[in-house]
Amino acid sequence: MAILVTGGAGYIGSHTCIALIEAGYDVVVVDNFSNSRTDAMTRVTEITGRSIPVYDLDLSNPIAVAHLFLTNTFEAVIHFAGLKSVSESVSDPLKYYSNNLSGTLVLLEAMKKFGVTNLVFSSTAAVYGMQESMPVREQAPLAPISPYGRTKLMIEMMLSDLVAAQPRWSVAVLRYFNPVGAHPSGLIGEDPSGIPNNLVPYISQVAVGNLETLTVHGDDYPTPDGTCIRDYIHVMDLASGHVKALDYVMSRHGLRPFNLGTGIGASVLEVISAFEQASGIKIPWHIGPRRIGDAAISYADVTRATVELDWHPTYELVDMCRDAWRWQSNFPHGYQTHPAPPVLT
Ligand code: UD1
Repeated sequence: MAILVTGGAGYIGSHTCIALIEAGYDVVVVDNFSNSRTDAMTRVTEITGRSIPVYDLDLSNPIAVAHLFLTNTFEAVIHFAGLKSVSESVSDPLKYYSNNLSGTLVLLEAMKKFGVTNLVFSSTAAVYGMQESMPVREQAPLAPISPYGRTKLMIEMMLSDLVAAQPRWSVAVLRYFNPVGAHPSGLIGEDPSGIPNNLVPYISQVAVGNLETLTVHGDDYPTPDGTCIRDYIHVMDLASGHVKALDYVMSRHGLRPFNLGTGIGASVLEVISAFEQASGIKIPWHIGPRRIGDAAISYADVTRATVELDWHPTYELVDMCRDAWRWQSNFPHGYQTHPAPPVLT
C-alpha cells in the first residue's frame, strides 16, 4: 500500500515526499511537470536513497488516472497538483478554474471508484482573503480575493459536500501561510519559472546576482515598520505537517481544515534583515508602491494543528533564509539538467 502524491515533483510536494519516506511510507508520485522538473525526483532519491515511481500524467485525463489506480494500491492521497500563481489566475482565470477543479474532480472520482477515501488536500491561506482580525482561525469567514484562492475554496466546498454525503471519507484540508526555505541538503528547493513573484525567492535571486534590487511593495501600512507582515513557514515544517495530517486522516472520518504557519508574523524588512544575517550578503532594496491585493497583516492561529495533529513547527525565520540561500547559491539557475529518472506513463 502506498501514498499517492499528486504534484509530488513540485516545491512542497518534493519536500513532503522526503518526509513521507522518512516516516516509513511508500510513495507514488504523479505530476504533469507543467511547473516542476524531473530533477526534483532524482534528488529526492539522492537524499532518501529510495527510488519513487513517478507517473508523468495530467489529472484531467480520466483514462490515465483510472489506469494509475488500477495498477497501484493506495491507502491515501496527498493532493498538491494544481496551478498556484495568484497573478496568473487574475489574468487567465479560466485556466485556473479548468485545471484546478477538473483535475481534482477526476482524482476524486477515481478515489471513489477504487475505494480510496483518505485525502490530505493542499489549500491556502488565500481562502481567507482580507481579514479584519489576526491571528486567523480556521473558523474565520472565507472570502478569497483571487481566482486562485476561489479555486481552492471551491475544492474545499466540494470536499465538504462529499464527506457529508459519504461519511466514510476522511479529509484534512491544509491551509498554508507563506512556505519558504528548502531542504537542508540544499539539493531541492523552490524553482519559480521566470521572475519570482514571492518575496523570499526574489531576495534569493537578488543575493545570487540574477536580479539587481528588491522592490519593497509599500512602507505605509499600519505595521511597526510600515511594511506588510506575513507568517513565513519552513517547507520542511510544512512537509512534517502533511505526515501528521496523513496519520490523522487514516485514524478517523470527516473533514477538518488546519492552518499551517508558525503563528509568528514577520515584516518585509525583517525578512530582508534575516536573509542578510543568514547569507552574509547585503540585499539592495528600495521602497515601491503598494502591490494590489496585499493585506497589511496576515498570520495564523495554529492552535488546532498543534493540539489535534501534535504538529510543532521548529524552524525560525533565519533558518528558513539560510536554507533558501543554500539552495539558491548551490543552484543559481534552479534545477539544471540531470539524468532524468525513469518516468512511467
Ligand atoms: C502569496 C499568495 C499565497 C501563496 C504565497 C506563496 C496572495 C494573496 N497570496 O502570498 O496564496 O501561498 O504567495 O508564498 O498573493 N513583497 C515585496 N516585494 C516583492 C515580493 C513580495 O515587498 O518583490 C512583499 C509583498 O508585498 C508581501 C510579502 O512580501 O507583503 C510577501 O509576499 P509574497 O511572498 O508574494 O506572499 P503573499 O502575497 O503573502
